[in-house]
Amino acid sequence: MKDFWQNINKPIVALAPMDGYTDSAYRQVVKKIAPDVMCFSEFYSADWLVHSKFLADSVLPHNESEKPLIIQIFWKDPEMFARARQIIERYNIAWIDINMWCPAKKVVKSWHGSGLIINQDTAFKIIETINKATKLPISVKTRLSFDWGEWLYDFAKWLENAWASLITVHWRTAKQAYTWIADFTQIYELKNHLKIPVVCNWDIKNFDDWISKLKNLDGFMIWRWSFWNPWAFLPGNYKPTLWEILDIMEFHAAKLMETKWEKKWSLEVRKHLVLYLRDFPWVKNYRKSMVTVNNLIEVQNVINQIKSDYISSLNLKTFEIE
Ligand SMILES: Cc1cc2nc3c(=O)[nH]c(=O)nc-3n(C[C@H](O)[C@H](O)[C@H](O)COP(=O)(O)O)c2cc1C
Repeated sequence: MKDFWQNINKPIVALAPMDGYTDSAYRQVVKKIAPDVMCFSEFYSADWLVHSKFLADSVLPHNESEKPLIIQIFWKDPEMFARARQIIERYNIAWIDINMWCPAKKVVKSWHGSGLIINQDTAFKIIETINKATKLPISVKTRLSFDWGEWLYDFAKWLENAWASLITVHWRTAKQAYTWIADFTQIYELKNHLKIPVVCNWDIKNFDDWISKLKNLDGFMIWRWSFWNPWAFLPGNYKPTLWEILDIMEFHAAKLMETKWEKKWSLEVRKHLVLYLRDFPWVKNYRKSMVTVNNLIEVQNVINQIKSDYISSLNLKTFEIE
């Protein structure tokens, strides 16, 4: 199981973990468009998974098409990770990713997320403990460093020595949070020091962009630029037609319905519908209908209305539509 890495398609193209977005429905959307993408879940607290059967039963079941699925967890107590993996293993998950990434102040203060970059003894203990407890591969998503770039080399090497099987590096320090322009020089250099696969994250716009930046790396992880454009994972700077977008909107709404209770479904689907059409100036004409949908019939009604209003543009690529 731990040599799983040898058998996965390289270079790795990954959908980034994204709290509130990369749930089962969205992962199915991405896999329908680009079946080779490896999907990371949103992060879940190891403690919640252990103590809430309701949470585990609502977030861990997944569709066959999402495989191989990676579940990301965070916490700080190594034993809690080991207990969480027992629960995760029951759901036929491909591997477990540990969040040593999150820069939120309250997370760092309590030594979770990127707080583990400065609390390295605990970070290694977590990897060792969970590795002893499971056959599943363990990966880590982290940052260039907490504050100073030079920390990453030692930290990553130690993670490798503690038997982390893959590392994803977000090319910014925790202190830089969401600012800073991507420059991957240090990640390329890092890869020269490690045997395990290195996946790079931050500011990759689409498939062609990451191919041009890949060099010696094992793959890329994309979030922001893929979110309302899951076609970003396809080669050739692929642009969907209006028909393809509307089709995916309907698919996404239906998949969400299978996994979320009614009230949560309406709140989430409304956010997604508007996002898919955000680049069309005419979206404002449908916004009110989209942000008030309460069921799948209402989603289909808005989509059918757009289809009938733009019937001559349905097979045009997005950039060709006024
Ligand atoms: C609102 C929000 C939620 C996120 N949730 C997670 C998460 O649960 N786990 C994680 O490792 N990263 C999370 N991220 C970070 C993304 O995975 C990714 O590292 C970041 O967006 C940079 O990649 P990009 O430039 O492709 O967007 C989150 C980012 C945002 C903005």
